[in-house]
Amino acid sequence: MHFYFDGSHFANALIFVFILIGVSLHAQRLAHVRIMITCAIADLALLLYVELRDQAVEDLFEKMAVIPWILWIHVAVSATLLFLWPACIVSGSKIYRGKVTDTGTHKKLAMTFLVFRFLTLATSTLIKHAV
Ligand code: HEM
Repeated sequence: MHFYFDGSHFANALIFVFILIGVSLHAQRLAHVRIMITCAIADLALLLYVELRDQAVEDLFEKMAVIPWILWIHVAVSATLLFLWPACIVSGSKIYRGKVTDTGTHKKLAMTFLVFRFLTLATSTLIKHAV
């Protein structure tokens, strides 16, 4: 097990903390919207950066030859965020713009999002300590 500083893993954890702060402030609508939009931009930029970084993912698959399934789970749960982020933004904007008053759909999508976002962080932590 190695402990070393990994910028993208730190960013992953930091964004998750800000997401929790943003969610806890949902009653203050404008603060909630601003924090969640900022987190969405940062999170999607991080996802693209990690994916496009030269050879990073290919190298990991080679190193993880013994337990590749955890990496596959990580890739799969991270990929769902590409759909869950826009889904939360669209459903949230409808409430914010007064198009819908029932927050039920947004809440269900938000809870699903939080589960998958947590799994992304948890599986990346497992991978970090396994290689
Ligand atoms: C993944 C991102 C997001 C998560 C996890 C999230 C989570 C939540 C949660 C848990 C609630 C409370 C729902 C309820 O108790 O019924 C909420 C409310 C709300 N969200 Fe989001 N949200 C996200 C993104 C957004 C975005 C991007 C917008 C707007 C563009 C937005 C706008 C709102 C509004 C207007 C409310 C109602 C506020 C209230 O009166 O409680 N949300 N959100």
